[in-house]
Amino acid sequence: MWSNRANEPSRTADSLEALHRFALLTACATFALIFVGGLVTSTGSALAVPDWPLSFGRFFPKMVGGVLYEHGHRMVAALVTLLTLGLMVWTLRVESRRYARLIAVGAFCLIVIQAVLGGLTVLLKLPLAIAVAHAACAQAFFCLVVAFCVVTSQYWQKARAIATQGSPFSLPKLALLTTIFVYAQILIGAVMRHMGAGLAIPDFPLSFGHIVPPVFPTPVAINFAHRVGALLVATLVTLTVVRVLRFHRDQPELFRISLLLGGLLVVQLGLGATTVWSMRAVIPTTAHVAVGAALLATSLVLTMRAFRLMSPVRLQGAVPLQAQMQRVQGRVRA
Ligand code: HEM
Repeated sequence: MWSNRANEPSRTADSLEALHRFALLTACATFALIFVGGLVTSTGSALAVPDWPLSFGRFFPKMVGGVLYEHGHRMVAALVTLLTLGLMVWTLRVESRRYARLIAVGAFCLIVIQAVLGGLTVLLKLPLAIAVAHAACAQAFFCLVVAFCVVTSQYWQKARAIATQGSPFSLPKLALLTTIFVYAQILIGAVMRHMGAGLAIPDFPLSFGHIVPPVFPTPVAINFAHRVGALLVATLVTLTVVRVLRFHRDQPELFRISLLLGGLLVVQLGLGATTVWSMRAVIPTTAHVAVGAALLATSLVLTMRAFRLMSPVRLQGAVPLQAQMQRVQGRVRA
């Protein structure tokens, strides 16, 4: 069936395109998993099922009360684990680029670690460090799957290097800094959430009616750090978007994603405020967790695309894309 060599490049392109679509599916399922996982904490259902890996000693317990959220979360997690296993096996079969293979293997390793952290969270009855590590690992795993989607996209393989403005703080560096700050902000949010400090400062945008809280016990300090973090993230996202709008309007793949980034920032700030004003109502609080993940992923995509277009190595023409594609094609088994 594969013996007709003339057909190989198009079969290879089809195969890589199918792998890319499968990666997109895995990313969507992961996003759903982050939302469902957020629901577990928002509804206070984390310990509704006392055992792990079984639930009340069974594969499928009665889905009532908090069990619906906790066991539902486990089922979506099992689906994402299977998708990630499929993604890794498929990648190792058809993909020759070392970094793409590494990302796929890394994602699978991370989801196994994530499952163990989730189990420990239940068995050790929600210790702060494990719960935060579980939240941090979830976002890192999502980033890996999104990064895999980026490197298997047509855009990544066809993008032509462009000249930069020669600024010491070019778009790739600025976007990278933004991504790092968004991740740090999410970590502070996770510490606050799992400490139960989400309403340690009950008002917003002021803090106890002041710009800076008059007292600083630990929950207030963490809560205030998250607000300062939001300000820094908002500043960096704005600088990144403005930079794209001023200098890279002619690059549709940068332009569109930067608009999405700006839009998600506005939504996320609104959801953060609503979380406080609604006293942690389930839907806005959970949406705040999920949109945080979307903001991080969008910033990562922009960062990767910016590096792809403007890396100094590629600007010197050191990365022959055609040759890279031929290497990829050469790996598809006959
Ligand atoms: C763009 C900036 C922001 C990002 C990326 C962000 C992200 C997050 C994330 C991901 C969490 C949950 C972490 C987890 O459990 O895994 C969280 C928690 C929280 N965030 Fe934000 N946040 C931002 C801005 C804000 C703002 C402006 C407010 C308003 C005060 C806010 C209020 C909260 C609250 C109250 C929680 C804890 C919810 C709870 O106790 O369940 N956030 N944030």
